[in-house]
Amino acid sequence: MLLAIDTSCDDTSVAVLRGDGAVVVSLVSSQFSIHAPHGGVVPELASRSHAEILPAIVDRALMQAGCTLDDITAMAVTYTPGLLGCLLVGVNFAKALAHRRNLPLYTVHHLEGHLFSPYIGDCISYPFLGLVVSGGHTAFYRVDGPHEISTLGQTVDDAVGEVYDKIAKVLGLGYPGGPAVDKLAAHGNPHALKLTIPRVKMGEEYLSFSGIKTAVFQAILNRTLSSSEINDVCASLQEMLVGILCEKARYFLDRENLPRLAVSGGVAMNSLLRKRFQMNFADVEVKLAAPEYCTDNAAMIGFAALIKGERADPLTLNAVATQKIQARSLRREQKGRA
Ligand code: KG4
Ligand code: ZN
Repeated sequence: MLLAIDTSCDDTSVAVLRGDGAVVVSLVSSQFSIHAPHGGVVPELASRSHAEILPAIVDRALMQAGCTLDDITAMAVTYTPGLLGCLLVGVNFAKALAHRRNLPLYTVHHLEGHLFSPYIGDCISYPFLGLVVSGGHTAFYRVDGPHEISTLGQTVDDAVGEVYDKIAKVLGLGYPGGPAVDKLAAHGNPHALKLTIPRVKMGEEYLSFSGIKTAVFQAILNRTLSSSEINDVCASLQEMLVGILCEKARYFLDRENLPRLAVSGGVAMNSLLRKRFQMNFADVEVKLAAPEYCTDNAAMIGFAALIKGERADPLTLNAVATQKIQARSLRREQKGRA
C-alpha cells in the first residue's frame, strides 16, 4: 500500500493506492473558503492550513482505506513545482514518516502527476501527446515512456485556468473562476465577442492567452453587463480558449505523428473542452482525465510514483518551487547513438 500526498497549492490531498495502481482512497480537502474572500490563493494562509489539517486527512484516508500506518509500505509526495511553503508541508511530513518507518520515499513532479492522470485505473500505451491545462500550466508533451518526456510547446504568458480565473474575478463570479464561467457559457452566444486567435512570433509550438484576456477585459471594462451579456462573454471566451487548445493539439498530433492524446489538469473538467476533444479527434485514441482526477489530487501523485519509480533519501529531500519536467529523451539519445 502506497500513501501519497500533494500540498503543492491550495488543496490538501491524500490518497492510498495499491501497488498495481488501483486507487483505494483519494481525499481532497479544498481551501476555497479560505481564499475566496481574497479572490485568489494567499500562499501563507495556504501553507498554514496544510500544516493544520494534513495529519487529520492522512488519518481519515487510512481509516477509509481500512488500514493503519503499519499496512503502508511506501510513501509518495509532490516535491515540485508549487508554492514553496505549501510543498514543504507535504515533503516534511512524508520525509518524517518515511524515515521513522523506514519506508521507500517516491518523489513526484506535480505536472507529471497530471500528465499520467488520464490513465489512472488503466494501462498506459506509448507514445502519446499529453496536454496539461491547469491554473498554473498549459503545455503539450510528447511522452514515449515513463522517463522519456519532452516538452513540445507551452504558453508564453498566462495559463488557460489563469485566464478563466482572472476574467471570472472581473465579472464578479468568485474564485476559482473556471467552473462558474463554464456553467454560464452554456447559456451564452459563443460568437457575441469578436476575439482573434493570437499568433505567437516565437513559433507555431508556442501558445499565448494574455491577448485574449486583455481583449475580454477591454470589452467589459466600465460596463454594467446584463446577465445574458455575462453569459455571452463567458461563452465567447470559452469558445476561443477551447478552440486554440484543439487547434494546437491537432498541430502536434500531425507533426509528431502520434496516435494518442491524453488531456489533464483542472481545465480538463471543462464541459466544452471534453465535448470538443471527444468529437474532433476521432482518428486518435483520446483519454480525458476522469473528473475526480482533473483538479489537484494525490491519487495522480501516487500513480505517477508507481509509473516512474523515482526515489529520494528521506534525510536530504527538499521541496523546489520551480523545476521543469526532466526531459530525458532516451528515444532521441538512442537514435543519435544508432
Ligand atoms: O489542476 P488544478 O487544480 O491546479 C493547478 O495545478 O493549477 O487547476 C485549477 C484550475 C483553476 O484555474 C480552475 O479555474 C480551473 O482549473 N477549472 C476549470 C474548470 N474547473 C476547474 N476551468 C474551466 N472549466 C472548468 N469546468
Ligand atoms: Zn495541478
